[in-house]
Amino acid sequence: MLGMTGNGVRFRSLDFVWEDGTSLARGLDLQLEAGEITALLGPSGCGKSTLLRLAAGLLVPTGGRIECSTRRAFVFQKPTLLAWRTVRANVELPLELGGEQGLAIDEALELVGLAEHGAKLPHELSGGMQMRASLARALVTSPDVLLMDEPFAALDALTRRRLQRRFVELQAEAPKTVLWVTHDIDEACLLADRVVVLAGPDVSVVLDERLSTPRPRSLHTGQLGGLATRLEGAL
Ligand SMILES: Nc1ncnc2c1ncn2[C@@H]1O[C@H](COP(=O)(O)OP(=O)(O)O)[C@@H](O)[C@H]1O
Ligand SMILES: [Mg+2]
Repeated sequence: MLGMTGNGVRFRSLDFVWEDGTSLARGLDLQLEAGEITALLGPSGCGKSTLLRLAAGLLVPTGGRIECSTRRAFVFQKPTLLAWRTVRANVELPLELGGEQGLAIDEALELVGLAEHGAKLPHELSGGMQMRASLARALVTSPDVLLMDEPFAALDALTRRRLQRRFVELQAEAPKTVLWVTHDIDEACLLADRVVVLAGPDVSVVLDERLSTPRPRSLHTGQLGGLATRLEGAL
């Protein structure tokens, strides 16, 4: 299924043209290494979400091909929870659909700070909590590939930091190939093994850099770092 890329993701000479004839990608070559977090940045409208949807199999390339494990999970920009199912039942859904269990449901809920909210319906949660539920739903299976579209953008700063840290721990325990769309440069610097910046009009790679600083990382050093640490400890 994947050939030489193992559990990586590979876009090979990818072309994508919308139904209205607008061309999005032309000849994109991009290979994501297995077990790495690749942060994908780029201006709004350059095609990041579309690339994720292509990797997820939700859109079909017009030309070229995409190699991606079918053991993949997707966190959309919006939570996309089923309104009539409880939070717990939403998180359980991929397992009902035949996904392989990676985390216990309780563990997944705990991880995103929703342990107390499993019995609630989505409309009883804030937007950020719904987003966290959708993250738990993706993590409950043990996907080879995790495709995430600005998963933390709607969260408050503290929750975002906590989840970033937990995500790094989880990734160290069970590395997945992660394609992480973000517009947050700090987030990319803190989390990614590699940062790829895309630009329009044809989805070309304008920057592709590897980050070798061990995690967990801190953006702050010296006095500011000390203060950040104290604040974190106090909160
Ligand atoms: N169904 C569609 N038909 C035509 N163009 C579309 C459609 N959906 C999105 N686009 C266009 O594709 C481009 C890329 O969109 P998107 O992948 O959402 O960008 P990003 O996630 O980087 O902000 C945008 O210019 C957008 O207007
Ligand atoms: Mg987008």
